[in-house]
Amino acid sequence: KPRVLSGMQPSGDSLHLGNYLGALVNWVKTQDDYDAFFFIPDMHAITAKYDPADLKARTRKTAAQFIAGGIDVDRSTLFVQSQVPEHAQLAWVLNCLTGFGEASRMTQFKDKSAKGGVDAANVGLFTYPVLMAADILLYQPQGVPVGDDQRQHVELTRTLAQRFNHRFGETFVVPEAQIPTEGARIYDLQNPTSKMSKSAESPAGLINVLDEPKLIAKRIKSAVTDTGTVIAYDKQEKPGVSNLLDILAAVTDRHVPELVAEFEGKMYGHLKVAVADAVVERLTPIRTRTLELLDDPAELDRLLLVGAEKARSVASKTVADVYEKVGFLPPL
Ligand code: TYM
Repeated sequence: KPRVLSGMQPSGDSLHLGNYLGALVNWVKTQDDYDAFFFIPDMHAITAKYDPADLKARTRKTAAQFIAGGIDVDRSTLFVQSQVPEHAQLAWVLNCLTGFGEASRMTQFKDKSAKGGVDAANVGLFTYPVLMAADILLYQPQGVPVGDDQRQHVELTRTLAQRFNHRFGETFVVPEAQIPTEGARIYDLQNPTSKMSKSAESPAGLINVLDEPKLIAKRIKSAVTDTGTVIAYDKQEKPGVSNLLDILAAVTDRHVPELVAEFEGKMYGHLKVAVADAVVERLTPIRTRTLELLDDPAELDRLLLVGAEKARSVASKTVADVYEKVGFLPPL
């Protein structure tokens, strides 16, 4: 089977709808046809301000939501990045193949460091995309299922793989980003031209997988819509309505044009009710199962260690090969 690999940061108490629809749903689907590796990049998470005890809790919560959302730990490999030391080992080698200017051009770094000034950013944030390239290349996947916002990072990964192969001989598979067409980018409900994100100014535009159904319904019903009354898909003129249509299509596994036809002659309010009901219906069983899993953290930790072991059996081979090629003495 071809292989895929992807990761999601343990960035909050709960995944938001963008992570869920833009990424997790896709991951779950890939398990049938691919040898799938999914992980929690906790090393990436410490590039931003954080609290250590809280990070542990978030890592477990994220893992629990992956399993509750449909990642099958028997078929796929689910692990935590920091438990597989090869990520840091390969990242160092790739750091030495990345141009300073090349790293400076990554838009996510520019956005994030612009918020607090470059001096407030740490060097880890700067080399974040290189660690991400290491995450991917260690496992030699053909595909990397991600949302649209990670496209540039996967591009850099491809560049580094090609550069390494060219300089040291065929070593890495050059992976492709697999970006879904529907739900590729879910937008903030209050500000439908920026992507739904934990770091939004206000949580009002955010839907979290672990939110109470009542809160979900409330937030969807107060979503910003657009002027006019016609339900149409038009990202330029009607970003709010288009976002709701994208969400509805993704949670119901249907297509936008079909939904637009169905809502012909109806009002924005009807659409909101339909979206709220569909989202709640989709998320409720995941919430319940997540809470069950979190009741037994020892068992969850055990599952993650099994995953880390499976991951290491692949990652250590890549690192051994890389070390040999770059001129390091054989490892222990
Ligand atoms: P992260 O944790 O920000 O996001 C995880 C996944 O969710 C997608 N996503 C969205 N999709 C649609 N709409 C949104 N509003 C939205 N917000 C987030 C992202 O595209 C992503 O697929 N750098 C990565 C984590 C990472 C990684 C990796 C991913 C580290 N190493 C290796 C793949 C392979 C990140 O911060 O994603």
